[in-house]
Amino acid sequence: MKKLYIETYGCQMNFADSEVVASVLVSHSYIPVAYADEADLILINTCSISDNAEKRVLARTRELQSLKKRNGNLKIGIIGCMAERMQQELFEKLEGVDLLAGPDSYRNLPQLLAQLDAEERVSDVLLSTSETYEDIDPLRFQSNYISAFVSIMRGCNNFCSYCVVPYTRGRERSRPVESILKETLDLQEKGYKEVTFLGQNVNSYDYSDSEGKQWRFPDLLGHIAKQIPSMRVRYATSHPKDISEELIEVMAAQDNICNSLHLPLQSGSTVVLDKMNRKYTREDYLKKVEMIKSKIPDIAISTDVIAGFCGETEEDHKLTLSAMKEVDYYYAFMFKYSERPGTLAAKKFDDDVPDEVKGRRLQEIIELQQNMSLEHNKRDLGKTFEVLIEGYSKKSELQLFGRTPQNKVVVFDKGNAKPSETVKVIIEDCTAATLMGRLV
Ligand code: SAH
Ligand code: SF4
Ligand code: F3S
Repeated sequence: MKKLYIETYGCQMNFADSEVVASVLVSHSYIPVAYADEADLILINTCSISDNAEKRVLARTRELQSLKKRNGNLKIGIIGCMAERMQQELFEKLEGVDLLAGPDSYRNLPQLLAQLDAEERVSDVLLSTSETYEDIDPLRFQSNYISAFVSIMRGCNNFCSYCVVPYTRGRERSRPVESILKETLDLQEKGYKEVTFLGQNVNSYDYSDSEGKQWRFPDLLGHIAKQIPSMRVRYATSHPKDISEELIEVMAAQDNICNSLHLPLQSGSTVVLDKMNRKYTREDYLKKVEMIKSKIPDIAISTDVIAGFCGETEEDHKLTLSAMKEVDYYYAFMFKYSERPGTLAAKKFDDDVPDEVKGRRLQEIIELQQNMSLEHNKRDLGKTFEVLIEGYSKKSELQLFGRTPQNKVVVFDKGNAKPSETVKVIIEDCTAATLMGRLV
């Protein structure tokens, strides 16, 4: 048996992919280990979303390369989005790297590793139009055995002008509904209590089964949620241009689909949204949010926002702040625009907002979100929520933490409760990041 250490960066899809990679290699005589210095093979599953994300991985790989001094047989591979975007450039930058594999090449890892016996460096960065890893049972090697990701589609066809993902992940393709259902039922049998369906844009899910029935995302979500009434169901990510009344009605009708939604805004200015190629206006977005809140009043919405995109004026920035206030997000991922080589924005627009202006705008966005998160949480004081317990609190063994259906973290004294149970908790205190409560 050879020892495999995987380190994962980037989005949830990457974490789900690492479980596919582990599964592929475990059936070829590898076992996962928890520490890099024990490994015979180190794989770094990487993210290209921003220049910073890439720099972090380059620095970390340089650090890991030094382990080769102690273990002459150690092999290091870069997999995922950076392998796809940078290809041979990575070999030039990192002398200790032996292997590159793009997101659609994971089935080929055993062959690539075998080739390494004869060749100094190997790579496979071919993208596929059909690979969904549908028949691979992911090895959940870092799981809490309570909640799991299930990938339902791969790739992205949206080409938002700032974004590298369509280039690193290739074209959209949907995994067969039968294989998604099988994996989910299997999780239920193993005692998991929550599943999150993953795709870059789940609303594009489109699959025709052997009887010719076409499945879109609302069909898939409703169908599977009904088969696993005892499990919570979540999903990410929805593109605002595609989110439909039908989908929201499925969420409202099915109790176990959680009332939380990640709906990336990116910018509150229609002019900027147009340059971003997002295909919705500020008004379209706000109208959809109104529709969603009218059908699911207790929904909590989170978002992604980019500060300082090409040509963004002070006025545009203020429109982002006001849209954020209007939606009242409970949480946000906030980014400073980072030009990505090869994207439409890199080709067409000047990255002309000075870095200190981007930084200041991002800071204003972060401060606004901090305040909104706190206010959002304060409104939960005195309310009782169903909380799925995920584990013990980091601060004290006497406390547990879990999540409300709205996806907020709650900490409370453990009483007789245990991880993986769902309990009722009344909220008594909060910070911007956490609710504090008491078992009912
Ligand atoms: N598929 C998801 C997002 C995937 S990338 C969606 O469409 O919503 C996650 C987030 O990274 C994006 O929503 C965006 O806010 C941010 N992002 C993507 N490219 C970026 C760039 N070049 N600079 C800064 N942030 C970026
Ligand atoms: Fe990137 Fe846009 Fe696709 Fe999301 S929808 S992955 S932001 S191109
Ligand atoms: Fe990063 Fe690739 Fe995900 S670029 S955000 S790991 S799809």
